[in-house]
Amino acid sequence: MIAVRKFVKQACWCCLAVCFLVILNSLPAKASDNGLVLTPPMGWNSWNKFGCNVSEDLIKGAADAMVSSGMKEAGYEYVVIDDCWQVSRDTSGNIVVDAQRFPSGIKALADYVHSKGLKFGIYSDAGVKTCAGRPGSAGHEYQDALQYAAWGVDYLKYDWCHTGKANAEWAYSTMRDALKASGRPIVFSMCEWGTAKPWLWAKDVGNLWRTTGDISDCWNCAKKDALSFVKIVDMQDGLETYAGPGHWNDPDSLEVGNGGMTTTEYRSHFSLWCLLAAPLIAGNDLKNMPAEIKDILTNKELIAVNQDALGMQGRRMKKNGDTEVWARQLADGSRAVILFNRGTEDAQIAVSWVDLGYPAHLSANVRDLWAKKDLGRLTSTYGANVPSHGVVMIKVTP
Ligand code: GLA
Repeated sequence: MIAVRKFVKQACWCCLAVCFLVILNSLPAKASDNGLVLTPPMGWNSWNKFGCNVSEDLIKGAADAMVSSGMKEAGYEYVVIDDCWQVSRDTSGNIVVDAQRFPSGIKALADYVHSKGLKFGIYSDAGVKTCAGRPGSAGHEYQDALQYAAWGVDYLKYDWCHTGKANAEWAYSTMRDALKASGRPIVFSMCEWGTAKPWLWAKDVGNLWRTTGDISDCWNCAKKDALSFVKIVDMQDGLETYAGPGHWNDPDSLEVGNGGMTTTEYRSHFSLWCLLAAPLIAGNDLKNMPAEIKDILTNKELIAVNQDALGMQGRRMKKNGDTEVWARQLADGSRAVILFNRGTEDAQIAVSWVDLGYPAHLSANVRDLWAKKDLGRLTSTYGANVPSHGVVMIKVTP
């Protein structure tokens, strides 16, 4: 009798354990579970500068330049081919690479990028076609994810063209699950342009999600629908609470160095992206980068703000016509602050300690992050003359 009771008891425990495992396995995967990009991803993407004109030589050259220019040393890691590497599907539905432009194949290219100590990224689309009309991943999600894993892909940018009436949350969750099933940790970069407000639902789906349409390389373009730098900045206002380690708002890759803005404007662009905890994905020609552009992209003190471990996205604290104050809380209790002048004339802009959540009497060290200079211990407020379209960016440390 005792033996029977013991047997029944053991059988019950076994059942419970099996049930537990079944439940655990059927829980939806979470992108944040992949443990990747606990600080915003840093890297380079081919689209802004090269569009469809990609090839293995271009990507290898970008990887080489990322190392030789000091970008890798500054923290840039992912080398991402955007659209146009793929041409068709074979009779088994496998994606076919453009053999003219990538004669050695994607695996060899990924190996090359890895040999430089960098990571390798690729692009696809949730629809039947990519935005440039190449085959998309709809209906081939698991097949493609397995292929990416076999190639050694570390990062997938996943676009939203030709998706018809598809539901974004469903489509992106399908690829998230496919990537998870591939067994390889792959950063999942959602490029849905903010249409279905991914910040509201994508925390457990993607590691980053685009918040807007495509950035244009201009301060405030004349072209009616173009998303110029300042328009994109305005569209980030209010999204700050949705970002955090492993799940970031993505206001698109950087235009710094692509020629449509002045050096002062590019400094503003980079400063805002750092304060916004935005992915720092360079979009320029790394092989032919003037010194002043390299100095912007590799400014270590700004990158430290972007990569701050707290992962708290900064926000607009004040707006007075064309002058604005943006601030971000950092892990050590200090604040990164941008005095931002959108106007056509130089302007005096000030930030008060109270605006930053500090008592006015607090004595704090103020450091100018572009001048790389300590300005001393100050109480109550800091003000500076800010050039037209420029920033003064400081770190305030109590
Ligand atoms: C869309 C995306 C861009 C780029 C192109 C490629 O427009 O938003 O970032 O990937 O497609 O075709």
